[in-house]
Amino acid sequence: MVFLNGKFLPLEEAKVPVLDRGFIFGDGVYELVPVYSRVAFRLDEHLARLERSLFETAIRNPYSRPQWRDFIFRVIDAQPFDDQGVYFQVTRGVAKRDHAFPGGVEPTVFMMSNPLVNPPREQVEKGGRAVSAEDNRWLRCDIKSISLLGNVLMRELSAQAGAAETIMFRDGKLTEASASNVFIVKDGVIRSPAKSHLILPGITYDVVVELAASAGLPLRFEAVTEAEVRGADEVWVTSSSKEVLAIVELDGKRIGDGQPGPVFRRIYDAYQDFKKKVMRAGKREAVSA
Ligand SMILES: Cc1ncc(COP(=O)(O)O)c(C=O)c1O
Repeated sequence: MVFLNGKFLPLEEAKVPVLDRGFIFGDGVYELVPVYSRVAFRLDEHLARLERSLFETAIRNPYSRPQWRDFIFRVIDAQPFDDQGVYFQVTRGVAKRDHAFPGGVEPTVFMMSNPLVNPPREQVEKGGRAVSAEDNRWLRCDIKSISLLGNVLMRELSAQAGAAETIMFRDGKLTEASASNVFIVKDGVIRSPAKSHLILPGITYDVVVELAASAGLPLRFEAVTEAEVRGADEVWVTSSSKEVLAIVELDGKRIGDGQPGPVFRRIYDAYQDFKKKVMRAGKREAVSA
């Protein structure tokens, strides 16, 4: 069962006109929320980011926060599986093709939920490999836009290499990966680029930051150079589906000793404990790390 413009219907029956600006221009924004045992993880933070993406793109938000929550809960309840990735997107709507905003159109809202695919245990234990590339995307990477061509081309570089992610640098500085944020650890200090228009403000990034702070681990938000990434003791990527994953090889060269490091293990364990706490609290409670 999926959701389209206020209706719940089977996927095969969900149809969008070809003049939808999402199809024609990639003119829309989206979210992906992980759901564990039917409890949506950090739902309000995802909804706040959606509201921000809509505001920044001047797409009308058709629903209030309680309406969004209600529709999302209904999509979750309609699935036969417990751990889910709920995807939802809003496009500017259907109109004659013209770059300028059309007047008086209704935004298109689509939601679906698929089984959540987290990295397999073996990859968590051994770590993943990554390749690097120059970040050639636009300069509003803080908007969670459905126009993902830049990210798609980046991800394909690592997919072709059989690697888990593509880590990007802009002018010699770390930005993020094709579908995740990046952290490094050097001499016990966790470092990641500060939030800016060059990276997506990850919800998992925030959770990791909160978990590191509660564990009293030193953490700095500052520019990280390409050389610092390559010379780091640990590199991790974070996202709603990858959670926290250690990267142990970049462009065929080992990171640190080529194993997931001790700081990764602490944060990974803390993340798993935190998930359990969220599940115990139930679907309507906000829980902090
Ligand atoms: C480009 C990019 N950066 C970072 C992230 C991580 O965001 P989150 O932790 O909210 O899933 C994503 C997630 O899809 C992404 O596409």
